[in-house]
Amino acid sequence: MQYQKFGLCATKQTFENAMRRHFATPAFNAYNMETLTAIVSAARLTHSPVIIAISESALKYMGDDMLMGIIDGLKIKPDEQIALHLDHGSSIESCMHAINIGFSSVMLDFSKRDIDENITATANIVRYAHARDASVEAELGILSGIEDETTFSNESAYTDPNVAKQFVDATGVDSLAVAIGTSHGAYKRKSADEKLRFDILDDIQNKIPTTPLVLHGASSIPENLVAEINKYGGKMQNTMGIDIEQLEFAATKTNICKINIDSDLRLGFTAAVRKTLATEPGIFNPREYLAPARDAVCDMCIFLIRTIFHSNNKI
Ligand code: G3H
Ligand code: 13P
Ligand code: ZN
Repeated sequence: MQYQKFGLCATKQTFENAMRRHFATPAFNAYNMETLTAIVSAARLTHSPVIIAISESALKYMGDDMLMGIIDGLKIKPDEQIALHLDHGSSIESCMHAINIGFSSVMLDFSKRDIDENITATANIVRYAHARDASVEAELGILSGIEDETTFSNESAYTDPNVAKQFVDATGVDSLAVAIGTSHGAYKRKSADEKLRFDILDDIQNKIPTTPLVLHGASSIPENLVAEINKYGGKMQNTMGIDIEQLEFAATKTNICKINIDSDLRLGFTAAVRKTLATEPGIFNPREYLAPARDAVCDMCIFLIRTIFHSNNKI
C-alpha cells in the first residue's frame, strides 16, 4: 500500500510550495479519530496544506489498520496537499513499516546517536524511501525536554552548521530538523529572555541553502488554555512556550518549511474536556465532551495556520 492510494500527497511537494511562497507547512500530531478529523477539517476550512504527524506511540495506540482506516474514511484528495508523516521514528524498521502501510514521509530520529551511525542509517532509509516516492527527515542537534514516551533528554545542543552540510551531502536526506532553542512539551523556557538562535539558523541556511528545514518543539503554550485547565481541576505550573512572533518569523522569513505542533493541540483538547465535565457534571455520554474537544483542536489548528504558518490559501 502506498500513500497515493489514500489521496495523500508527497511531503516534498509541501516543502517546494512552502520554500517558494515563504510560509511553513504545519505538522500537527494526531492520535485518535477526533484529532485526525480536527486537523483535516482545519486544513480544508483554510485551504492550507497540512502534514499529519503520527508518533510511534500514537501508531501503537491506534493500530495500523485503525489509523489507515480513518485516513481512508477522510476521503482525502491529492490536490488538498495533505501528507502523512511518521514523527520521531526510532529505527529503520519502524520507518520502513510506516512507508509500507501508506505514510508519505518518515523522520528517522538518530539525533542522539553517533554522527556516523546517523549518516549510515539515514542514507539507508533515504534509498528505501526514494524508491517508493516517499521522503525522509533527519535531525541534528538535541532538543531538550520530553520528546516521546521513550525519548528523554535534558541536554541541549544546537545544530552545528558544518555538520549539517556534511550530513546532507552524505545522506541525500530531504529535510533536516534543526536545534535552535526549541524543545518538546509545555515547559520550554524559564524566562521570556530565552530566544530562538536565528544566528545559528542563518549559518545553517548559508551552508545548505536548498534544504528544507524543520522546527520541532514549536508549541506556543497559550496561557489562557493553561489557565482554563487549572481552573477546572488541572495542575500545570511554570509552563512557557515559544514566542508567537518568533515562530511567525521562522515560518515566513527563513528556510523552515515544516513546524511541528503537538502540545498546543493537547492543551486545547484537555481544556475543552475539563471544562465540559466540570460545567456539566450530569453528562456521561463521551460524545458530549469529545465533540467540544475535537472542535477546540480544529480551532487551535486554524488559529496557528493563520497567525504563525501563513499557510492558509496556499494550496
Ligand atoms: O515530539 C513528539 C510528540 O510530541 C509525540 O508525543 O509520543 O506522546 O505521541 P507522543
Ligand atoms: P511541541 O511539544 O512543542 O508541540 O512539539 C511537537 C513536536 O515537535 C512533535 O514532533
Ligand atoms: Zn518533535
